[in-house]
Amino acid sequence: MASRQSKKRVKDAQPWSGRFNEPVDALVKRFTASVGFDRRLAQHDIRGSLAHARMLAARGVIANADLAAIERGLSTIGREIASGAFTWSEDAEDVHLNIERRLVELVGDPGKRLHTGRSRNDQVATDLRLWLRDEIDAILERLAALQRALLDQAERHAATVMPGFTHLQVAQPVTFGHHLLAYFEMFERDRERLADCRWRVNRLPLGAAALAGTTFPVDRAQVARELGFDDVAENSLDAVSDRDFAIEFAACASLVMVHLSRFAEELVLWMNPRFAFVRLPDRFCTGSSIMPQKKNPDIPELVRGKSGRVFGHLMALLALMKGQPLAYNRDNQEDKEPLFDTVDTLGNSLAVFAGLVAGLEARPENMREAALQGFSTATDLADYLVRKGVAFRDAHGIVARAVREAEATGCDLSGLPLAVLRRFCGAIGNDVYRALTLEGSVAARDHPGGTAPRRVRAAVARARKRLARKATA
Ligand code: ARG
Repeated sequence: MASRQSKKRVKDAQPWSGRFNEPVDALVKRFTASVGFDRRLAQHDIRGSLAHARMLAARGVIANADLAAIERGLSTIGREIASGAFTWSEDAEDVHLNIERRLVELVGDPGKRLHTGRSRNDQVATDLRLWLRDEIDAILERLAALQRALLDQAERHAATVMPGFTHLQVAQPVTFGHHLLAYFEMFERDRERLADCRWRVNRLPLGAAALAGTTFPVDRAQVARELGFDDVAENSLDAVSDRDFAIEFAACASLVMVHLSRFAEELVLWMNPRFAFVRLPDRFCTGSSIMPQKKNPDIPELVRGKSGRVFGHLMALLALMKGQPLAYNRDNQEDKEPLFDTVDTLGNSLAVFAGLVAGLEARPENMREAALQGFSTATDLADYLVRKGVAFRDAHGIVARAVREAEATGCDLSGLPLAVLRRFCGAIGNDVYRALTLEGSVAARDHPGGTAPRRVRAAVARARKRLARKATA
């Protein structure tokens, strides 16, 4: 007993070190500190603290004079951080304690009352949700910008014919506009998903305190209102330990990256001179330090590569949560770096892709030439025969024989004279050539969701309206 009394108070104490007999090991201090990265949450931490303090004052838990001092101090700190004048220190472990320490330095005792009825456990969960909500809004904007760039190109190329592929073999002609609209749809689903994710992000953990709630008469609804949360998290244990929202976001982000990566892969192919379907603007390409002739599609390649990094963050977050008992565990500090990097990687990839798509130059003559190879209108001939009363399976066989003939002759189906075509089926008439041209082929797919140029233009117009509507869940 006596010996415990005689132990000296730890010098340079942490706010939590009152019951400790020796200062924390230097290596441990560095190992546990998160301020190096979680300072990114600083402005959101301040917003959360202001709302908490106002609620405490409204409930009479702290005096109005204390609130005034806290508001003054936090606003000074906000400015110091924004200007870079703030001194961050690992001694204060994380963003929360750095700010709190400075607050006490600036305003004295009122600063020490801020943490009443609150824990860093509900504080950090609140900060993270506030921050992620803002980032989701920014990402939704970037997605929309990329979609607008796609729509402009799709409109321009509503009638530009290119080969559509299955198994990366020429299948049927499509329009370039139609092809680009496929990506519009992927990104539209991404916007829906992110808006839906945002809805679950937007719940307030504060009030849960460390895990069990607090003995003070907090008004959680007021704090939620002030911070723009749709609701409060229902259960205090869940509120401090839940990171589903981070995982969901990483999953949404991973899907966006999947879509970007697929698009990137196509751009790389299309840039290859064997395809030569597009030119990428020079400002979005790089050269080789040894091969003077090279112009490389590094941007799409990097985006394709970075997708793996985002998938990795999703895995990291899943593994982080698996096996965590209720409630808060320090493991959760490891949620931030994957989440931050996910936001950065995704945001940058979207921004660079929007510029790339806007600057993309299609090469319709090469697309057309490629569509003329590979008998891309063979299905149109079969459909033509069906309209003449031939059963589809029979038509399929007839066309296959015609394709072999054309292949042997070294021409396209439309290059076969009528007399030759009629050898395969007497039902074929002169009107067949309309079905066999690329333009006839795409124009015939004339229904919602089809590749006919007029349908593509209508789809672009509809897409512009969908884009103008806010993506809400
Ligand atoms: N830096 C911590 C984190 O990011 C804040 C919460 C710490 N809470 C605690 N009881 N050690 O999760």
